[in-house]
Amino acid sequence: MTQLAIYPGSFDPVTNGHLDLVHRARRIFPRLVVAVAHNVRKTPMFTVEERQEILREVLAGQSGVEVDAFSGLLVDYAKRRQATVIIRGLRALSDFENEFQMAHMNRRLAPDLETFFMMTGQDHFYVSSQTVKEVAYHGGDIHGLVPDLVIARLKLKNGQPPAARV
Ligand code: PNS
Repeated sequence: MTQLAIYPGSFDPVTNGHLDLVHRARRIFPRLVVAVAHNVRKTPMFTVEERQEILREVLAGQSGVEVDAFSGLLVDYAKRRQATVIIRGLRALSDFENEFQMAHMNRRLAPDLETFFMMTGQDHFYVSSQTVKEVAYHGGDIHGLVPDLVIARLKLKNGQPPAARV
């Protein structure tokens, strides 16, 4: 059976950094699931359904890529999906400690599941969903950092007119 990789995350909302990673990971893994987490420790701006909808739209036409959602432990979801690899992106050094802890905890829980780290593309290493939301909220320019669809969705959430340039 072809190896299935899971790229889990909050994707609240998806950024061009995430998309770059999906495209690059897809060159390595023939089947990739982008899995939106029902993350109980975060208060999201977009619902899980909205985040999946956006991802499906921006990833439409990408063969071998599926969008899904999960709750509970990632390792349990991976087991259900019979996935063998978890993909995570690393931007700056500051990501490392948290990712290191997560990877080790996941390995302890599921020794056969491998975490595969990829460096974020150089154009995206400073982009995060959090900063994008903050800049958009204050009316700053986020073109090029997220897909246009996300810009429109953020405007709606922030109560800005759809035609107004962010
Ligand atoms: O995009 P994020 O917020 O960095 O993604 C974090 C995510 C969703 C991958 C992580 O919080 C996660 O795996 N959550 C599911 C619950 C779980 O398995 N926690 C144990 C990991 S140590």
